[in-house]
Amino acid sequence: MTEMPPPNSPNPSRVSVIVPTYQEADSLGALLDRLSRVREGGLELEALIVDDDSRDGTEEVVRDLSLPWVRLITRRGERGLSSAVLAGLRAASGDVLIVMDADLSHPPESIPDMLAALQSGADFVVGSRYVAGGGTEDGWGVLRWVNSKVATIMARPFTSVKDCMSGFIGFRRDTWLNAQDLDPVGYKIGLELIVKCRCTNVVEVPIHFSTRQYGQSKLTLKVQLEYLDHVLRLLRWKYPGWSSFVPFALVGISGIGVYAALLAIFGVILQDILSDDIQIILAILLTIGWNFTFDRWLAFWYARGDTIWRQFVGFLGVCSVPVVINFLVTIWLVGDHMVAPAAGAIGALVGSVAGVLFNWFVARAIVFRRNASD
Ligand code: GDD
Ligand code: MN
Repeated sequence: MTEMPPPNSPNPSRVSVIVPTYQEADSLGALLDRLSRVREGGLELEALIVDDDSRDGTEEVVRDLSLPWVRLITRRGERGLSSAVLAGLRAASGDVLIVMDADLSHPPESIPDMLAALQSGADFVVGSRYVAGGGTEDGWGVLRWVNSKVATIMARPFTSVKDCMSGFIGFRRDTWLNAQDLDPVGYKIGLELIVKCRCTNVVEVPIHFSTRQYGQSKLTLKVQLEYLDHVLRLLRWKYPGWSSFVPFALVGISGIGVYAALLAIFGVILQDILSDDIQIILAILLTIGWNFTFDRWLAFWYARGDTIWRQFVGFLGVCSVPVVINFLVTIWLVGDHMVAPAAGAIGALVGSVAGVLFNWFVARAIVFRRNASD
């Protein structure tokens, strides 16, 4: 007698396997052969090959095999691993969705283990090289290994999954329907989904990662740079406050250096032309311009609705408040018979700390507002 699946769990036998391909014609035959054997184990499994117009015989291989459970989606004019995976996910009909590489790095034979993990309550499964029983084939160069490790460490703010770089992933349809703000930049669609679907129960199934036999890896330098961009976007998505405040505070600190440097330079080149007061005012204005430029770029990246001039005027207004605080604290300390240089320093310090906090909150609330469409 077979056991009834627990209520609300997906029927484990309806599975869509999404395989993004770019010039993988040589691997496809073997992959589909191994997948068909997994199918024969009693799974209602469809494969969706999402090919970015490889023109290397991919279409012919799929057509000649003419397997009723295999669909080829050819995208023309668009390229990219993550967006190909999303296209496949949208076209898939299964209750469980699996994504894997075409180059036989990921063993199709592990799919039943992944399904079992999802059956027992995982909302996301990862075919993992870095858990007991998993591994990589010998011959991975030091460089590739270091690369993978560094990339994994950079993903730590988002997940503790050991192999969060893996492209061999699976989840239930309802997990995928939970996804918010998907932004398919670069290669790491697994990480993107774990974060944006707010997965809480990610299970790693050990796999042995094989070295590809045919064709070439598409992991170029461009892809690696895209990963840095991806991490930045995820930081901003998951921690919008901190990823705005930290750059803002750093820009603020840089502004102190800029201000001091400007005063020093003016002291030399403008000494005979402008009075000290005017030099100070000029230095303050330029420093505000410096802060505005970098804050707008790095701390308030999302605020592009208003014109830049309106933003600048607002920013000037906001900045003038701490300048006044600075001034008042200084006067008050001098009134208390403190020597002027010490009063100036304390005034500047109090002004800066209060200023950074005040400026950030107010600039965020008033000057750099989120666009309505975001
Ligand atoms: N449609 C489409 N478009 N597919 C692509 C594209 C693209 O622009 N770029 C790559 N692919 C496909 C490849 O054809 C292959 O099936 C799969 O995506 C992975 O590409 P590889 O070039 O083999 O990647 P890799 O071996 O460097 O990286 C793999 O290992 C990483 C972990 O180290 C992938 O599995 C990654 O997903 C994984 O994170
Ligand atoms: Mn590969």
